[in-house]
Amino acid sequence: MSLDGSVSGSTVSAAPSGFDLAALDAALSGTRFAGKLRLFPTIPSTNTHAMKEAESGAPEGMVYFADEQTAGRGRGAHAWASPPGSGLYVSALLRPRMAPADALWFSLAAGLAVHDAVKQVTSLEADLRWPNDLLLGHKGRSRKFCGILTELNAEATHVRHLVIGIGINVHQQRFPDELHNFATSLYIETGRDWPRQELLIALLQSLDVEATALTSSPTTAQANILARLEQVSSWVRGKHVYVEDQDGFEGVTEGLDPRGFLQIRTAGGLRTVFSGGVREQKTINR
Ligand code: BTN
Repeated sequence: MSLDGSVSGSTVSAAPSGFDLAALDAALSGTRFAGKLRLFPTIPSTNTHAMKEAESGAPEGMVYFADEQTAGRGRGAHAWASPPGSGLYVSALLRPRMAPADALWFSLAAGLAVHDAVKQVTSLEADLRWPNDLLLGHKGRSRKFCGILTELNAEATHVRHLVIGIGINVHQQRFPDELHNFATSLYIETGRDWPRQELLIALLQSLDVEATALTSSPTTAQANILARLEQVSSWVRGKHVYVEDQDGFEGVTEGLDPRGFLQIRTAGGLRTVFSGGVREQKTINR
């Protein structure tokens, strides 16, 4: 155990959370994450910790994950409920050489990495709601089981570091009333407990492939991400949505622009979504 309460593969093998750090490290050998895993029994937020460590010079590839978060953070200042033993709460630190405008690609790629990892472990085909919420359930009634919070520290011309924080609801059997209609878990969708260790290995392996592609041949990787999103997301095209940005507007999704931003056909013309969540609009307002 280190001063900050974390355990790493070199110090402890089987941790109380059920994660086996030595086995995790072995499974990740050859990736940028091998030897760089830090597990916390409890922590306020793995993203907050990762951003602080990055400021202090932590290297590319560090992974901070926890059995419990007491102040898990979501996009748009929302909280991310992170009870002990229930989900995957993981933040990966990357130091890609790129302009801040390209950070969205890493966020989109992280959503695809979760999609592929969940499919590999559970055979479930999650739907991806732009930019990177993952949903499961019957079409029209799907609920969110994974959220991604990508944070960066950048100058105008380049990114200093990027933290990709991923929360996956794994073992939750129910959610509080206020979340019931919006949240689900892998357990609720399948009636089975899926090992967090296996999910974490598959996730980090996929994320490593995505990050390598984006840094080694960005143009090809970006085209590939756009094509895959068209395939795995029912939200990219032809969905009637409401965009919760400052003024709020509605329209029908019409693909992604060449930078990865969602385009919406509105009564007033084509608009690009730069901020705010996208929600399904079930009634047609004229
Ligand atoms: C969202 O959908 O609003 C994003 C949720 C992101 C939650 C994860 S859990 C691990 C990491 N640490 C945090 O505090 N947040 C992210």
